[in-house]
Amino acid sequence: MAPGRAMIPHNRPLITAEDRAAVDAVLASGWIAQGPAVAALEADFVRRYGGGGACALSSGSAALFLALKSLGAGEGATVAVPSYACSALLNAVYLAGATPKVVDVLPDSFCLDPAALARQAAEAAFAIAVHTYGAPADVAALQAPGRQLIEDCCQSLGGVGVQGQLGSQGEAAVFSFYATKIVTGGQGGLVWSKAADVAEAVRYYRQFDCRESYVPRFNLQMTDIQAALVNSQLARLEAIRSRRQAIARSYLAALPAGLSVQSGLADAGRMAYRFVVLAPDLATREALRRHMEQAGVGCAVPIERYELLHRYLKLDPADFPVAERLADTSLSLPIHPGLSDAQLAQAAAALSGFRP
Ligand SMILES: Cc1ncc(COP(=O)(O)O)c(C=O)c1O
Repeated sequence: MAPGRAMIPHNRPLITAEDRAAVDAVLASGWIAQGPAVAALEADFVRRYGGGGACALSSGSAALFLALKSLGAGEGATVAVPSYACSALLNAVYLAGATPKVVDVLPDSFCLDPAALARQAAEAAFAIAVHTYGAPADVAALQAPGRQLIEDCCQSLGGVGVQGQLGSQGEAAVFSFYATKIVTGGQGGLVWSKAADVAEAVRYYRQFDCRESYVPRFNLQMTDIQAALVNSQLARLEAIRSRRQAIARSYLAALPAGLSVQSGLADAGRMAYRFVVLAPDLATREALRRHMEQAGVGCAVPIERYELLHRYLKLDPADFPVAERLADTSLSLPIHPGLSDAQLAQAAAALSGFRP
């Protein structure tokens, strides 16, 4: 990269004047812990999904944990999880007392492979389907009699697939509002379920103070400071979708022959959380990473090989060939809505100038 030129960040939260004003209003109100802004966030999700119940929490990890717990995924239960996913899934399953069963993913969407699920975890009474980087998992094909499905929408808030709004099909949907997510409060999470009693079971656990009877609970609350930021950003979710889609279109137009991308990036309902380029092999991916960095464009390997869930559990990598290949060949380009037109032009030109 030319000396003195700033690197385009791979990710960066976009905080507007309206976001600051919303947070300021909470700070000035004298009530900064869980309160009316959290209640408004929960009401927003119930409205978005046309019913059910919602419970806001301190993180997406907490949302996964309490969704599992509320659905009864405790000791003795097996939970199918995708091999190509972050370790928050394993943490939640173990914390709930259940056992994870790792399943390989599809090469086009990077989501749980229904055929691999039938092969590798047919007995699992629970499954966590991640809509990876915004790509819809095939929820209908993952469902089976006696199986409860959690849709992990931490990377797909606002996404719509052929089966409808992502999160609407399973027994529960979980969301994260971490700093790099589609909408952020710095940290935060939420469980929505069409069954209001599932959301109530989550709420029952979230807060230990002032309870009439004792059961072990934990403080997993979101603050109104965080919720105000999330609510303010949710109000412009459609603008976030359009900006992310416009960036994705520019990269698609600039993609050189020899590279491919995750499926569905041009779909109308897509919430493009990441723009992931696939190289033919590891050496080409590394060459692309160096090329983009030299052009001043911050890129990231979204999941490194050592982070794959089957590797963490010391399972045989040969049983998870798709995840292994994705980890070695994928590179994520900046797609955050704060990217300026000039930065986008610079990144797209760098991409089109790469020769695999
Ligand atoms: C798919 C997925 N599930 C769960 C999580 C956990 O969310 P959090 O970081 O808010 O705990 C994340 C984010 O890291 C995620 O990307």
